[in-house]
Amino acid sequence: MSATKIDGKAYAAGLRDRIGEAVTQLPGQPTLAVVLVGEDPASKVYVKNKIKFTLETGMRSIEHKLPADISEDELVKIVRDLNNDNEVDGILVQLPLPKHLNENRVIEEIDANKDVDGLTETSAGRLSLGKPGLRPCTPTGCVMLAKDALGDLSGKSCVVVGRSILVGKPAAFLFLEQNCTISIAHSRTQNLEEVCREADIIVAAVGRPQMVKAEWIKPGACVIDVGINRVPHPEKPGKTYLVGDVDYHPAMETAGSITPVPGGVGPMTIACLLRNTVLAACMRRGWDVPENLSF
Ligand code: GUN
Repeated sequence: MSATKIDGKAYAAGLRDRIGEAVTQLPGQPTLAVVLVGEDPASKVYVKNKIKFTLETGMRSIEHKLPADISEDELVKIVRDLNNDNEVDGILVQLPLPKHLNENRVIEEIDANKDVDGLTETSAGRLSLGKPGLRPCTPTGCVMLAKDALGDLSGKSCVVVGRSILVGKPAAFLFLEQNCTISIAHSRTQNLEEVCREADIIVAAVGRPQMVKAEWIKPGACVIDVGINRVPHPEKPGKTYLVGDVDYHPAMETAGSITPVPGGVGPMTIACLLRNTVLAACMRRGWDVPENLSF
């Protein structure tokens, strides 16, 4: 039997449509401020797409393009000004920052109520304590896709492979919020294969190409692959292609549902950022949260 492919690209497009619809019903227009430092080509593409989709969903976008040699104090001042700007609902500082800047210090300056990336210690604390707050985007996308495939996740067992601050740890807390029984597996986990084989949901977020094998997957399980790894093409010398952290084609034969790479979790990150911008605006301005944004 072959697994159902979970189409993250289509889900993300539908979510953006729902966000656009929700924005038209709000008493005002949410605003996202994006801060880009330097000339990193990948970051420029991400920021361009974030701005494009912000505008497409009917929200306002403010962009700060800053030189690579900006001082930390100057950057912090810009973040503080955005915190104090009542027009701004969400603040996103694109990562990575140039090496001379302390990412942690800059991120910590962001007002948690505008932290649409969900990266500040306050946002992480709210998540771990089960308090309302802005949740990290990629892990939220993982939960949405798992729910799309399985429906109610209550009581299901979920193994998150990888314990990164950006994905693994918050993903585990988000699946716990859905009443899953969670495990976090990592490089020191004993019997990793068996641990994975017990799970109804596997979230692969280790950054190792095709590490999770078909034999690690319980028949019928839902597999969410967060990995984006560029590797040499096996048949085309000199060419590369993208693979996830799951050995996708063999895994299709065991899993019940699985996200592809690309086109799975990836497109969900920006859609969840836009959703967070609406949620931040509602929280800060005391508006009702549009019902069509729940999942
Ligand atoms: N760089 C790559 N992905 C992300 C992201 O989701 N947020 C931020 N701020 N920077 C990134």
